[in-house]
Amino acid sequence: MIKDQHRTPLVEALCRHAKGEKVSLHIPGHKMHGFWPLFKDRVGAFADFDVTELPGLDDLHHPVEAIADASMLAAQAFGSDEAFFLVGGSTVGNLAAIMSVASEDDLLLVGRNAHQSVWNAIHLARATSIALMPELEGESVFGGISPSTVREAVHRYPKAVALVITSPTYHGFASDLREIVRIAHEVGMVVIVDEAHGAHFPFLDSLPVSAIHAGADLVIQSPHKMLGGFTQTGILHVVGQDVSRERIRYVLRILQSSSPSYLLLASIDAARAHMAVNGRSMLQQVIASLERSLTRLQLHGCAPFLHSSAPKDPFKWNIDAHAFSLDGFALAEQLRQNDGIYVELADERYVLLSWSYASTDRDIELTEQAFLRLWGRRQQGAQGSHVADRIVVNHLSAIPRISAPIIPMKLLFSDRAVKREIQDAVGYAVVDHIAVYPPGIPILLPGELVTQGVCDFLQEMVGHGIRVDGIDELQRVNCAD
Ligand SMILES: Cc1ncc(COP(=O)(O)O)c(C=O)c1O
Repeated sequence: MIKDQHRTPLVEALCRHAKGEKVSLHIPGHKMHGFWPLFKDRVGAFADFDVTELPGLDDLHHPVEAIADASMLAAQAFGSDEAFFLVGGSTVGNLAAIMSVASEDDLLLVGRNAHQSVWNAIHLARATSIALMPELEGESVFGGISPSTVREAVHRYPKAVALVITSPTYHGFASDLREIVRIAHEVGMVVIVDEAHGAHFPFLDSLPVSAIHAGADLVIQSPHKMLGGFTQTGILHVVGQDVSRERIRYVLRILQSSSPSYLLLASIDAARAHMAVNGRSMLQQVIASLERSLTRLQLHGCAPFLHSSAPKDPFKWNIDAHAFSLDGFALAEQLRQNDGIYVELADERYVLLSWSYASTDRDIELTEQAFLRLWGRRQQGAQGSHVADRIVVNHLSAIPRISAPIIPMKLLFSDRAVKREIQDAVGYAVVDHIAVYPPGIPILLPGELVTQGVCDFLQEMVGHGIRVDGIDELQRVNCAD
C-alpha cells in the first residue's frame, strides 16, 4: 500500500498530545516548563515534545500506533522492508545488527575502517573477525572495499556468518555494493552495511547506490549526519527475510533506553517526510550550487581536492591542505579563525567538509571566498609553508589486505594486561582499540600486534595533540602480557 509521505504520524501525535494535556502527573520531572532560565530561552520550545510513553504516543519497544506508522513510512521512503527507529545513533544500529546475526565464536569479515561500534559489537557477541583493508585514497584516507578483496576473503572464509562494510565512508567514498552483495549472497553470507553517512543516497539516483537498493540485508543509517534528524538518531533497515526480525527486536530491547526520547524519534519522522517529499529537489539544488562553485574555483586555478576515481558522495569535499602550503590542522584553524567556518574533520593532510541538503548558497559562497583568499595568499607566498617537514608515516601500507583472524576479545581479557609505552609495545597485541578521533577508525584492533610503522604513526599523532583513544596521558597502551 502506498503511504502518503506528507504524513508525520509521530509528530502529529505529539502535537495532539501537547494540545490535550492539562496536567502532567507523569515523568519527565520538568513538566514541560520547569527549566533554568537561560536553557529555557534557548530550548524551552522543544519541551512539549519531551514526553514519555503516554496514551496515543505508542511505545518504541512494542510499537503499534504512531511509531509503527512512522516506521512503515520510513521503510517505504527509504526502500527497505522494515525500519527500526533508534535513539542511540548508528552506534546502536551497528551493535544491534551484528548481535542479531553473530553468536559466540562466529566469524565475521569486516572492513578495517568500521566504526568502533562494529568492533564493540563483535566483542559483545563474543565473535571474532577478519579485517579487510579498504582501498586507500590519497595519502591516508580510507576508501571503499574492492569486490576483489571481498571475493578473496569470502573464498578463504566461506563459513563467515556476515560481511560488514562501511559505505559510504566518513570521507564519502562508496564501495561497489551491488557486486559485493552478489559475491556474499552467493555463499549465503549476510551483508551488513554501515550507511551512517549515506542516509540521503536513496533519495537521488545520481548519488552512489544505497545499500538498501543494492540488496544488503541490514543497513544502518544516522539521520542526524546527512538528513534532518537530531543528534543521536538512527535507523536500522531490514531487507529480505534472512535475518530474524524477532532477534533484532529482542536485541534492540536490550540495547536501547526504556525511556527513548520522543524529540529524537519525532525528528526521524520529520526528517523522513522532508526527504521523501522535498529531498530530490533539495539535494539536486545543493549539488548544482556545489558544482558551480567548483567550476569557479577551478577558473582561479584553485583545485585543492583529493583526487580519486572512486564513486563519491558530492556532499563530501576532501581538501588537500598542502595545496595551500598548509597542513590540515592549520587550514581548519584558519577557516575557523578568519571566517567562522567549522569543518567536519582535519588531519595532518586533509580537511573534510560535510555539506548537506540544508547547505545554503551563502554557505557555499563564503567557503569559496575563504578558499580563494587563502589561494591568493599562497600564490603571493604570504602563507609561508606550514607543511611541517615530516616523514610521511604511511601506517596503512603496513596493514594486510586480509588480516589473520584477530584474537577475540574474550581471550584478551586478562588481569595481566600490561601498560607499555608506545615505543615498547612493538611486537605485543593490544587489548584496547587504538583509534584517532575523529573519525574513530581503529588503527589497531584489540588482538592485533603493534608494528614499528603503527608505533611511529601513533607517536606523531600524540605529538600533534590529537586525541588518540587507547593511549593514556603517559603515552602508554594496554597490551596482552
Ligand atoms: C561510519 C560510522 N558509523 C557509525 C557511526 C556512529 O554513528 P552515531 O554517531 O550516529 O552513533 C559513525 C560516527 O561517526 C561513523 O562515522
